[in-house]
Amino acid sequence: MHIVHTIADLRQQLSGYKRPAFVPTMGNLHDGHIALVKQAKPLGDVTVSSIFVNRLQFAPHEDFDSYPRTLDADAARLEAAGCDLVFAPREKDLYPEPQTFKVHPATDLSDILEGHFRPGFFIGVSTVVMKLFSCVFAGMPSGVAAFGKKDYQQVMVVRRLVQQFALPIDILAGETQRAADGLALSSRNGYLSEAERLEAVQLSLALKGLGEAARATSTPDLPALEAQAMQALARRGWKPDYLTVRRRADLMPPQGPLAAQPLVVLGAAKLGNTRLIDNLEI
Ligand code: PAF
Repeated sequence: MHIVHTIADLRQQLSGYKRPAFVPTMGNLHDGHIALVKQAKPLGDVTVSSIFVNRLQFAPHEDFDSYPRTLDADAARLEAAGCDLVFAPREKDLYPEPQTFKVHPATDLSDILEGHFRPGFFIGVSTVVMKLFSCVFAGMPSGVAAFGKKDYQQVMVVRRLVQQFALPIDILAGETQRAADGLALSSRNGYLSEAERLEAVQLSLALKGLGEAARATSTPDLPALEAQAMQALARRGWKPDYLTVRRRADLMPPQGPLAAQPLVVLGAAKLGNTRLIDNLEI
């Protein structure tokens, strides 16, 4: 496995290949990332992963500086998973000058839920994803890129980006990997204290409970159920941003009888200083 830092070296390593299988990450890899690498690998002729903590998607008060950077351990895990090439640019390699051209996703999808609580987040994500795609896939007839469904809205934003810019890239959405107790794996789980780690599974349990309540009748009072679910988490000491039932198609609140509609329950809440997100398709 090769590790490269510059776009020129990446492109040189990729010359001769026709269909990269690409897993973009911010590093501090867990089993969810490794599962994506293993799923993506048979779909391309070379497997590439990027490790880059993207300043553009962090607000000034967020954890850009403290986000764990663990390149050596990440590289060892990627090699064991069969990754061929790691692209780990320094900031000056990916953004040699301020990135003044940005990708602004349509606000109907990017200003709700995560985008509402993290303004500008999806502009930062879309911009770096577009740039990484251009580094990895330029000149390639086709490719595949894998993203985890834990970041449900992110997958939808990336799918739309690929569709609207007519990029010849298939998007693979990998299932959320969970710890034995059901907590969705996330690099940010490492911030949790021992007591918080025990409590953390309550977010996925709350989503499950909300999903079951929503499916219990054909016309439930969703705002009331969502408020109850948030209050229950708040009573346990969480600070919920949202727990909500949405249509899978566009993440809008469902209209009319729920029975025939594919839905997803999404949630984000802070436990201590750590903000966790999770979702469940119902
Ligand atoms: O999901 C992530 O780790 C990041 O948002 C991504 C897609 C690597 C872009 O920085």
